[in-house]
Amino acid sequence: MKDLLLLGLESSCDDTGAAVVRARTDGSAEILSSVVAGQTALHAPFGGVVPEIAARAHAEKIDLCVEEALVEAGVGLSAFDAVAVTAGPGLIGGVLSGVMCAKGIAAGAGLPLIGVNHLAGHALTPRLTDGLQFPYLMLLVSGGHCQFLIVRNSDEFSRIGGTIDDAPGEAFDKAAKILGLPQPGGPAVEAEARAGDPARFALPRPLLDRPGCDFSFSGLKTALLRARDALVAEKGGLTRADRADLCASFQAAVTDVIAAKSRRALALYMAEAPAAPAFAVAGGVAANATIRDALEKVSAGAGARFVAPPLRLCTDNAAMIAWAGVELFRAGRRDGMDLAARPRWPLDRSRPALIGSGKKGAKA
Ligand code: KG4
Ligand code: ZN
Repeated sequence: MKDLLLLGLESSCDDTGAAVVRARTDGSAEILSSVVAGQTALHAPFGGVVPEIAARAHAEKIDLCVEEALVEAGVGLSAFDAVAVTAGPGLIGGVLSGVMCAKGIAAGAGLPLIGVNHLAGHALTPRLTDGLQFPYLMLLVSGGHCQFLIVRNSDEFSRIGGTIDDAPGEAFDKAAKILGLPQPGGPAVEAEARAGDPARFALPRPLLDRPGCDFSFSGLKTALLRARDALVAEKGGLTRADRADLCASFQAAVTDVIAAKSRRALALYMAEAPAAPAFAVAGGVAANATIRDALEKVSAGAGARFVAPPLRLCTDNAAMIAWAGVELFRAGRRDGMDLAARPRWPLDRSRPALIGSGKKGAKA
């Protein structure tokens, strides 16, 4: 084995990213640069990601991101061992921008090309940040993703649960909309919830009464809407305290569900007697302190190490794609110029694709 230098590209949703990662033979790695150009302002007027706008913005920005990442890292294209690119799942126009750019670089600089599954990028991040050993349990919770994975190696994942409708970040965003709070909803709801009473509204804990590790969040959102409407009908509007209590009650319901399902997922994972048990969380929702604390407790209760990578590596970025590229490169993966951009690409080929397809595109 030798040190590897990889360029990673990401463009599957609403963040354009390019990153340079150096991986050492001892398993450690260094992120030499990680550039992310977000598109929040472009999509804000539409209340969700508009695929066509996203695709154009990725096509405009991806070269610039690559250039910036190279300059920041202080390396030229000839120094790389390979270029890794998100080849799916995601909004197809954006994925295509990244794949075409990566093919151009690979052909121009004579580099091997590696197509990375975006979800594998998230799922392998705790190895980049904390050197986790396989197998570990992973919970992806963001605006677009929601699944439990047992990560067995760089190309083998068992999905043991997922959402059947919305992702939790989507649920937070919709809750914020219902309560007249700004987007993205998660941070806004969390801030309001701090002053609220989580016990005032008895919102449902969907699917807790059923076995398994699947989630559902759409009924919770409807229950929140009803609670709001009842208050409005009663008093003609919401007080600040009402809104804070609704936020706190909503957050408590999401936290309870995620914690309870994590307990079940951990039990399934621990039954396999992993050598170094670990539970990692990724995605924007992992920024929520209440949810994070609950997950840490659940993990400690099961005897597993809890790992939450820094937020900039939990949300969409290209360093995770470069790192996944490192792992796949070491496993011998190389793609050709026929590498396809895929809107759907389930990580676990043995399980049917998730039904849920949110505002940010397909969930798997
Ligand atoms: O991972 P991410 O940046 O993007 C993708 O979805 O790909 O996640 C963004 C999601 C948004 O839905 C946002 O509302 C949610 O993560 N989020 C939060 C918090 N911060 C971000 N949800 C709950 N609490 C938070 N503090
Ligand atoms: Zn993502």
